[in-house]
Amino acid sequence: MRVLETIQQMRSSCEAARQGEKRLGFVPTMGALHEGHLSLVRAAKARCQVVAASIFVNPTQFGPNEDFSKYPRSFERDQKLLEKEGVELLFAPSVEEMYPEGAVTFVTVEGLSERLCGKSRPGHFRGVTTVVSKLFHITQPDLAFFGQKDAAQVAIIRRMVLDLNLGVEIVVCPIVREADGLAMSSRNAYLSQQQRRSALVLSRSLAQVKKLFEQGERCAGKLGAAGRQVFSEEPSVRLDYFQIVNPETLEPVESISAPALVAVAAFVGGTRLIDNIVLAN
Ligand code: PAF
Repeated sequence: MRVLETIQQMRSSCEAARQGEKRLGFVPTMGALHEGHLSLVRAAKARCQVVAASIFVNPTQFGPNEDFSKYPRSFERDQKLLEKEGVELLFAPSVEEMYPEGAVTFVTVEGLSERLCGKSRPGHFRGVTTVVSKLFHITQPDLAFFGQKDAAQVAIIRRMVLDLNLGVEIVVCPIVREADGLAMSSRNAYLSQQQRRSALVLSRSLAQVKKLFEQGERCAGKLGAAGRQVFSEEPSVRLDYFQIVNPETLEPVESISAPALVAVAAFVGGTRLIDNIVLAN
């Protein structure tokens, strides 16, 4: 595996790797890798002749009071994991390389970027779409792989790719969960043992909604209320939102007649976690 630190090196390495009609798959990450990320790499390996990944903790997607400075960084460990999975190219730029002084251009997907996490994290999705579009321009992948856990991110990136004619196929891989149901996240590393137990309220609330849906309930209001009720039994966890929305537009739905995204975000101590399920008839 080659590690590239400059845009120029990454661009020319990707260009060379694509020679001979080879399909290039790309897995963008912020590092602190877990099985969820590795499942993206495995999906990329299954569909592409060459796989590139990136590790870049992107400052523009963190708010001023968020965890940019303490976000877990484990570059050497991550590098070994990616190498073991057969990644050929790893892009690991510095902040200065990605955002040289004077950079003032951003990519915004309007409307969608203010929904779900975008509402409580203003500017977050603008940072995500800016860095992802830069990474796509640098690597020019045929396919790019994202996790369903960030369902709003997926919807926003799909819209960006469509609107800007980026010509990258977005592949979405299922959420990878711990044995007890907790969705894997780099931020789970922040949780104490007690918080780790409390965090199960996220997946429990979604399981409750799924159960009611399977019993025939189709009213989004009732399903949402049932999910929120589960949180009232875990007062140490502060619910940010529990919403049932259209998976493409992220707008709330009233009743479930087409696939609907049930998305939740909550603070466990100072750690903000997200999870979701898709309900389909
Ligand atoms: O999902 C993430 O880890 C990040 O939002 C991404 C897509 C790598 C952009 O920084």
